[in-house]
Amino acid sequence: MGAAFSLAWPMTYLKTYGPRANPITGLTWGLMDLSLAVIAIITVLVVAGVWVRRERRSRPVFADLLVGREAGGLRWIWIGLGLTIVALVASLAWTVAVMAAVGMPGGQPALTLEITGHQWWWEVRYVGATPNQTFVTANEIHVPTGRPVLVKLNGADVIHSFWIPALAGKTDAIPGRTNLTWLQADRAGVYRGQCTEYCGVQHANMAAFVTADPPAVFEAWRAGQLRASVPAASPGKQLFVQRCGACHTVRGGEAGGVVGPDLTHLMSRRTLAAGTVPNTPDGLSGWISNPQALKPGARMPATDLSGPELGQVVAYLETLT
Ligand code: CUA
Repeated sequence: MGAAFSLAWPMTYLKTYGPRANPITGLTWGLMDLSLAVIAIITVLVVAGVWVRRERRSRPVFADLLVGREAGGLRWIWIGLGLTIVALVASLAWTVAVMAAVGMPGGQPALTLEITGHQWWWEVRYVGATPNQTFVTANEIHVPTGRPVLVKLNGADVIHSFWIPALAGKTDAIPGRTNLTWLQADRAGVYRGQCTEYCGVQHANMAAFVTADPPAVFEAWRAGQLRASVPAASPGKQLFVQRCGACHTVRGGEAGGVVGPDLTHLMSRRTLAAGTVPNTPDGLSGWISNPQALKPGARMPATDLSGPELGQVVAYLETLT
């Protein structure tokens, strides 16, 4: 998982990269092997049964013999029942142990995130030691490698479910309550995630990305995010405040809306609209001029900007580094 980022990035869930996900992968493969073993055993027994019956038919002497107690028919049922109970109880015990391993508090978190599911994007609040160390971003989550990260999940409107399969299991984001989960990335990379609770028409376009970097790189990123954005006054900035500022925040400017994603450091993100559009000048223009064409049902309305105005707004957004 290098620098060549792509929107078509696959989600990996059979290969995991952290202690909050690895036990789940083990369980997944274990239960898969068990299921395959059951299928194999049953298949062999059924085929053997058919074969024995055919053999009997082909020898008229045995044709009229019933499968009696003497032949041990009931014994097979007891053996099957015993094996099934052992397998199911073992699976249950393993599952409970995995749930405990991935859900247990991992000591003092190195980072606490408050993540809120919205229709259809993720709000990510980085909780600092003091309020002025706290900032908000969207959809693209940065974490330091090798450190436990505590995630407090909430839903803003309906129930969503937060899932970064390579790093942790699914946890629901429910309005009115806070669910806790942990994630930890053992190696640097970008890990794709997805909302996994049907939450409305654009549920499928509700991706999340976790970028894991060595702690020093992460701290540099965090310091950059803490800066306010103060681009010089421009027609684009003025237009943005008037047309977009009621829904979006750019810290350090007059735009302070909290309905949509915080755009303070928009240019530090790879995608727009929760992984729907690449964050390029063309992607931005297309998204702003007609969000409903790219993500039908999205809460963002068309802003009714003229061509030149759109160019000015995009030029301003491109300065939000
Ligand atoms: Cu949010 Cu599905």
